[in-house]
Order: sequence, then C-alpha cells, then structure tokens
Amino acid sequence: MTDSRLAVVVLAAGQGTRMKSQTPKVLHPLAGIPLIGHVLSTARALDPAHLVTVVRHERDRVAATVLECDGDCVIVDQDEIPGTGRAAEVALDALPHDFDGDVLVVSGDVPLLDAATLAELLTEHRERGAAATVLSAVLDDATGYGRVVRNAEGGLDRIVEQKDASDDERAITEINSGTYVFHAPSLRAKLALVSTDNAQQEKYLTDVVGLLRGDGMPVAALPVREGWLVAGVNDRVQLADAAQRLNQLIVRGWQLAGVTVVDPASTWIDRTVTLDEDVEVRPGTQLHGATTIARGAVVGPDTTLTDCEVGAGARVSRTDATLAVIGERASVGPFAYLRPGTVVGEDGKVGTFVETKNSTLGREAKVPHLSYIGDTTVGEGTNIGAGTITANYDGVNKHRTEVGAHARTGSHNVFVAPVRIGDGAYTGAGTVVRKDVPAGALAVNVAPQRNVERWVAANRPGTAAAEAAAAATERSEGTV
Ligand code: UD1
Ligand code: CA
Repeated sequence: MTDSRLAVVVLAAGQGTRMKSQTPKVLHPLAGIPLIGHVLSTARALDPAHLVTVVRHERDRVAATVLECDGDCVIVDQDEIPGTGRAAEVALDALPHDFDGDVLVVSGDVPLLDAATLAELLTEHRERGAAATVLSAVLDDATGYGRVVRNAEGGLDRIVEQKDASDDERAITEINSGTYVFHAPSLRAKLALVSTDNAQQEKYLTDVVGLLRGDGMPVAALPVREGWLVAGVNDRVQLADAAQRLNQLIVRGWQLAGVTVVDPASTWIDRTVTLDEDVEVRPGTQLHGATTIARGAVVGPDTTLTDCEVGAGARVSRTDATLAVIGERASVGPFAYLRPGTVVGEDGKVGTFVETKNSTLGREAKVPHLSYIGDTTVGEGTNIGAGTITANYDGVNKHRTEVGAHARTGSHNVFVAPVRIGDGAYTGAGTVVRKDVPAGALAVNVAPQRNVERWVAANRPGTAAAEAAAAATERSEGTV
C-alpha cells in the first residue's frame, strides 16, 4: 500500500569526478543495471507517495536512464549551487508545499542498500518522533566519508566531512552513509540556513543535522548491520568491490534456488538473468542481460551469454553468444560464436570453431565443425559439412542461403548466396554452390583430378619428397 507520508529523494546530480569517466557515475553498470537502477528499485519497493531524483551533471543522459528504470519517478534539476544540501532543497520544492511527512534521502551511488534496511530506518525514525535519523556504519577504513560526531552521552551531535574534519574527528570510524530520514518541514527550515562556507564550498545536507541538534530537536544515528550495505561507489576500485559483493549475493540466491554453481568466484550473473532449478553453471561463466536458462541445461565452462534463451537440457561449452536461442537438448561448442539472430533447433548442434549470425537451424540440424553460417535457414535433420562458409555478402548487400530438410552437404563447401539447396540434397566435398540445388540432387562442381605420374622425380630431384617417392615406388615394385 502506498505510504502517503513518505517521499524518497535520490541524489544523482553530482559529477562523480573520481570515476574519471565520460559516463556519468550513476550510469556505470553493476550486475547489468546502472548504479542508479539499483537505488531506484529499492526506493520503489518502499512504495512512497513521491519518488524524486535530482539531476544536473549530464542531465539528459541521467534523466533518460532514471525514467527507463522507473517511469513514474519525478526528475528535478539542481541549479548552479553545488552540494547535497542544495540537491535536497530543490527536491523539496518539487513536493507538494503542504507535504509534512518524512523525506528519505538516498544517494544514487550507494547501490547495495536493501529495502528492508531502509524500512527499519524509517520505522525507528517514526517511533522516536525524530527530526532526523542518519543511517551510519562503523568501518575499518572510514577514509573519504563524513564522520558521525557523538556527544559525551553518545547521542548524535553533528556530521563533519572528511575535508573539514580535525585529526581527532578523522580518527572516528563511524561514518555517515549518506542515507537519512528527515521530517519534511524541519528539513525545509534548516536547509534555508545552510551556507557554502566549508572546504568544498558546497551546501552540505549533513549540516542540517547539527542545526537541528542545536535547536534541541531529536536526532539520531543508527549503525547499519553490515558496513558493505552502505558502501558508496566513488571510483572504479569501489565499483569493482560493489560488483563482487553483489555478485556473491546473486550467485548465492541462485544456489539456494536449486542452481549448481561450481565456482562462485569465477561466475558472474546479472540481476536480470533467470535460471531454472537444476541448471548447472560451470567455472568462468558470465550470464548477462535478459538471459534465461531452462531446467537441466549445463552452461560453461568459460562461456559468456548475453540476452540468450537456453532450452532445457541444452549444453553450452566455451561459447560466446548474444541474442541467440538455443533449443532444448541442443549442443553448442566448445568454441562456438553465436551472434544475434541465431536459433539452434531442439537436439541440434553448433560445434567447434563455428560462427553463426542471423540464422535458423531446424530441429536436429547440425553444423559440427569449422564453419561460418550467416543469413541462413537450415531445415530439420540437415548436416552441414565441416568447413562450410556461407558467402552472404557481395560487398554491398547481404543475401540468404536456404538449405532444406535432411540435406547432407560435403566438407569445405562455399554457399554463394542467394542460393537454395533443396530437401534431401547432397553436395560433394569442396563444392562452391553458386546455383540452386534441386531436392534430392547431388551437386558437384570440382574439376576432375589429374595425376601427373613421376612429376616429383622430374621436377624436384634430390629433395626429401623425391627420395620418399622413390622409396615408395621401390617398395611397391618389390611387393609385386
Ligand atoms: C556524501 C556525504 C558524506 C557521506 C557520503 C556517503 C555530504 C556533504 N557528504 O559525501 O557525509 O559519508 O556521502 O556516501 O552530503 N549530489 C548531488 N548534488 C550535488 C552533489 C552531490 O545530487 O551537488 C549527489 C551525488 O550525485 C551522489 C550523492 O549526492 O549521488 C553524494 O555525493 P558525493 O559527491 O558522492 O558525496 P560524498 O563526498 O561521497
Ligand atoms: Ca559518494
């Protein structure tokens, strides 16, 4: 049920300079979703009456992604006044002016925080009737974070940013996670008083805490259960740390749901992937995007699947595949490269060193070895010979190759598209198929072989080849 007294504000206007990237920080992907996507789905899970994201740096790109992740989120632009305090202020202006509920502020760059922890924070805040409740954490290494300064009684006094902190304050290991709940009218009143008079010349949201406390308003800091929940992503080291942590959670979730993951450390699964019970994922495998894998399929080792559909009981080994559909019980790899638009039929096979693109293979159709199959349709039960190339590109246009059902094509063929090979047709080894082959016909176009006897003795005397040939001749004459 919608919480009519709750507004969630996501801060995402900052530059993220420490990432040193052309891509805005909150758009960097984590488990297949932009950082901010994780934050938005967590925020949405609380079912707030208002969900607002504040943007400024790379405004259009960030806003577009926010709306892709959550179409009902309200986008608010921060002006030229910098700082998290200013961001919160413009967000408040976007809420109904009589809103006097709670404002939960979260950072777009803190992706691992879960809805249950936020719900607990909110409940505590409400039960205490607090003006501000800060989610804090005690970290081994507090470098870079704002520190939670407590008074002699252990109550929250204020928050000091690392850059403004004294040596004593820097020794504090309890940090501000950047996640807070505020009573909306109190927040509004105090933000109006916050200045930019600090080391970074920014309007700090954190200053509100000290101001409220100075007025004798109830404020509190609650340490989170585990520090990693509030880990911020400010640089690429922290991005990789967060990715690893999230991946551990995702892999563990699938293991508990009945998936065998042989080596969790070398297995990467996006949050958007779906796996059935009794799937087995072997070491060195990455599953991305909208990939789905059905019951009993074995994927890996060393396989990367992006937006693929793998049918029940299929086997996919040492394969790279994107936007491919692999049928039930089909076999792919080792060393296959399936490009977009590939459909492998039930019980079919794409074997070793085979590249496919925009091609549909029917049920039980097989391309076992060393081939390129592009813009092609292969009928059911057909076997494509080893080393077959579909020449689909004439330098200007792409053309299709159509092979019927139950055909048997020879090794080392070239199918020069557009071309059709009929049902049940055969082609000889080394055939370059330029004309359609009717159903049931055998196509051969290799020139007859001519053997020039004793050519080596006449033209390459004294070579190892000549000696070997002479010895062979002697042996065969000796046996006569
Ligand atoms: C902030 C907190 C710090 C806390 C840390 C936790 C302040 C002043 N400091 O520091 O106490 O320990 O988060 O991760 O709040 N943003 C805006 N507009 C701005 C500036 C930032 O929307 O003008 C957004 C950023 O996009 C980001 C979030 O606010 O999502 C935090 O900003 P960032 O610059 O990373 O703050 P920290 O220095 O990490
Ligand atoms: Ca940060």
